[in-house]
Formats: sequence, C-alpha cells, structure tokens
Amino acid sequence: MPGTVRSSHPHQAGSTDPTSAPATAPLTAQSADWFERAHRVTPGGVNSPVRAFNAVGGTPRFMASGAGAWLRDVDGNEYVDLICSWGPLLLGHAHPEVQAAVVEAVSRGTSYGTPTRPEVELAEEIVHRTSVEQVRFVSSGTEATMSAIRLARGFTGRDLVVKFAGCYHGHVDSLLAEAGSGLATHRVEGSVPGTPGVPAGSTAATLVLPYNDREAVEAAFAAHGPEIACLITEASPGNMGVVPPLPGFNQFLSEICARHGAIFVSDEVMTGFRVSRRGQWGLDGAVEGWTPDLVTFGKVMGGGFPAAAFGGRADVMAMLSPGGPVYQAGTLSGNPVATTAGLATLRLATEDVYAHVDASASTLSAAVGEELSRAGVPHVVQAGGNMFSVFLGLEGASVRDFAAASRQDTAAYKAFFHAMLDQGVYLPPSAYEAWFLSAAHDDRALQQVLDALPAAAEAAGRAVTLPRNRNQE
Ligand SMILES: Cc1ncc(COP(=O)(O)O)c(C=O)c1O
Repeated sequence: MPGTVRSSHPHQAGSTDPTSAPATAPLTAQSADWFERAHRVTPGGVNSPVRAFNAVGGTPRFMASGAGAWLRDVDGNEYVDLICSWGPLLLGHAHPEVQAAVVEAVSRGTSYGTPTRPEVELAEEIVHRTSVEQVRFVSSGTEATMSAIRLARGFTGRDLVVKFAGCYHGHVDSLLAEAGSGLATHRVEGSVPGTPGVPAGSTAATLVLPYNDREAVEAAFAAHGPEIACLITEASPGNMGVVPPLPGFNQFLSEICARHGAIFVSDEVMTGFRVSRRGQWGLDGAVEGWTPDLVTFGKVMGGGFPAAAFGGRADVMAMLSPGGPVYQAGTLSGNPVATTAGLATLRLATEDVYAHVDASASTLSAAVGEELSRAGVPHVVQAGGNMFSVFLGLEGASVRDFAAASRQDTAAYKAFFHAMLDQGVYLPPSAYEAWFLSAAHDDRALQQVLDALPAAAEAAGRAVTLPRNRNQE
C-alpha cells in the first residue's frame, strides 16, 4: 500500500534475527522474574486475566517495547504481534504521527477537568464516520456499555436487558452472564452470574440468548416485550472467537427492538473503526439502511490510550446529565491526551489502511486453514471483516454460537499457540479471542507468520483429540 502503510522498524534484539525462526524456544528468564515479582503485589501477577496465560500455560511475556508490527520482550525476543493490544493498534505500535501528536499534547498538560478542543474534534470525527448523532466519552469499553445500559433503562423506564451468550461487553455486573473473552476460560462451577461477586439480583434482569438465533429472540420479545429496555450485541462478535452475524441478523435485531420500543445497542468497542472506517455498521447497517439506537466504542478510537465512548440518537442522548435526568460522569472522560491520540489515529485510518488490513487478514486466514488441512487437523477458520480466528478440533461449515465455539479443542490451540510463540509470533493466549492485524504488518512480518504456520499446525495435529462435529455434544 504505497504511501499510507508504514513498514515496520523492528528493534535490533542482539543476536535475534526477526526474519528467521529461532531453533529453540526463546529465553524467558527476565519475564519469569518479573512475573514472580508481579505476583507478590498484583493478584495473579496481571492487571487483566487473559494476560496471565492461564488458558495456554507457560510464562507470560513482559513486553518492553513495540514498533510497527513487532513486540519486543524484556528478554530481547521479538514477535510479530497478532493481538495489537487486543484491537486498538490499527496503525501498529508507536506510529510516529500519533506519537508526535501525543507528545505535543502532553507538553501542554495532561488533564484539566474542563472541556477541551480535541474532545470536540474527536466527537465530530466519530459522528461524521458513524450513525451516531451525539457521543459522550468515557475511559473504557466497560464504562461505555455500562452507561449505555443505564441510559437505555432511563429512556424506556424498563429494566430487562437482552444479551447473547458468548458476547462480552466488559465487566459490567449485569452483563457478566455467559460472557465471552476472559470469562470464557474462567468458568466457576455452578456460578450464575459468571463470577462470584455479582449478586444474582444484578443479572436477574438479564436475558441471555443463543447468538444468531432469530427464533430465540422472537420468543424473548413475545414473552417479555413490554419489559425489555434494550438488546445489546457485539456488532460482530470477536469474544467467543470470531463468530460473525448471519446475513441480515443485525437488521432483524434493529427491527424487532423498534417494534417493541426497546433500545438496540450495538457494541462496536472491538469492531468500531477496525473492520471498516465506519466499523461493522459500515458493512451492514449503512448498506441495508438501518441504524442502531445506541452504539458503544473503544479500542481504536483511543489510539492506544484509555478512551471509549457511547453515542446514538440525539433524543436518547438528551436524557443524559447535565441536560437530562440520567446521571453519568468521569474525572478523566475525554482526557485531552487520549482524545488527541484517538483523533490522530482516526485521521490516519484511511481507506488504504483498511484495504491493507483486509488483504493481510485474508492472506493469513487462508494460510492458517491450508496449513491445518495439510497437517490433517480438523478446524474452522472464521472471519468477521478483517478480524479472524481458528476453532481447532471442529468440523463443519461454520460456528454460529457460543455453544458450538465451546466445543473446540483448547488443548490443540495451546500447542498451536506455543509453537507460534516459539517462532516469534504472538497470538492471543486464548482460543476464545480474535486475531488482529495492523497497517504496519508488512510483507516481512506476514512472512514470519507464514513461515511459522507449518510447525504450529503439526504441533496442533499432535495435540488434537478426535474431531468433534460442531453439532455434537
Ligand atoms: C465488544 C467489547 N465490548 C466491551 C469491551 C470492554 O472494553 P474494556 O476492556 O475497554 O473495558 C470489550 C473488551 O474487549 C469488547 O471486546
């Protein structure tokens, strides 16, 4: 992609040559030391559970720096990064123009607790790109979905929330019921909600339905329509692995909500500004002619900083304080450094960037499938826009919901993950996550991934148990 897509500039890591796979597993002594030290002062040694490698075992790598498509850990190992900070880094690590904008913003001060110009400019950019008429900034995706739910309840005067099994919307009490992402590998026997610490009352007003199941949605609205405040869904789920909506499913959700006076909340924290310049809505709603009532954003729009947002119909947003009765606030909401980083990122996120990320995702996802087939490993590779993931040990056309995703062979993924890691490719350390690429993933980075696949597919083949059809228990 001439002009718009940067080459990556990996660090020189001593004798490590990032273009060739190491003959032996990378050294992890420094990471192990830091992990032990972290354990003493932080529960589980990490500040977000999936980082602990519990689902795959082994030593979590402590990263020291990132450049373009590459991560470098404290032992000096380099990796092609296929998580991109779990989605935000659409332009890769340390993009010079984003960095320059941030440095300039920091030089003026870091937080004022007053309105600032970059907040308005970022809000204008989001309104311009998406379906939302107004937007309010918060600091995390969790805060965005929590606030959207409160607003939907305040607007409708109703309590019930409908969500889908396997969709993750952050660690909001009322949404921690059959959630994907970290909760998918954190099963606490007999616990409904999905974690202790959430009172049953908090999820008592949450209905959980199977994803992509129109009949289940119709039945829920038939039984509870007048009590349903909102239906929240990932715009295209990436937190049970990638399980995209069946054609027309989001439109159907939008219509059934409208028919019953419920708010349709499309969670674009992961997909927003990533799968297209207008997010998932750019791939379905904008084409099909419908709009969600509320949308949540995060990740890419924060440019690697803690920034997120929720927005939507002006009449619904008007219910928010200070103009309306629904209270919502935040000390660092719309922080000038974070919104400057987000604005710089979105301004650089041109059609060429998306074309490059789309093409790279197609290349890699096809290659993953080919190598697994060559190694005789049953699998399903699924993409939702330029996000994709692999379900090992499954056979069949597609994985449509969380029940099917949960039948994958996580032991095979563990073997696959470590074989890739040993060859300098950093995949999500859980089978229930999407793989992410960036504009900085150039030919050299992609080639390192392609070169690592055959050995990883062989390792998965040695670990996989009998193929299980996705429809079997
Ligand atoms: C779809 C979706 N919604 C909400 C969240 C929560 O965002 P955060 O981790 O910033 O709280 C996530 C996080 O991965 C997400 O993927």
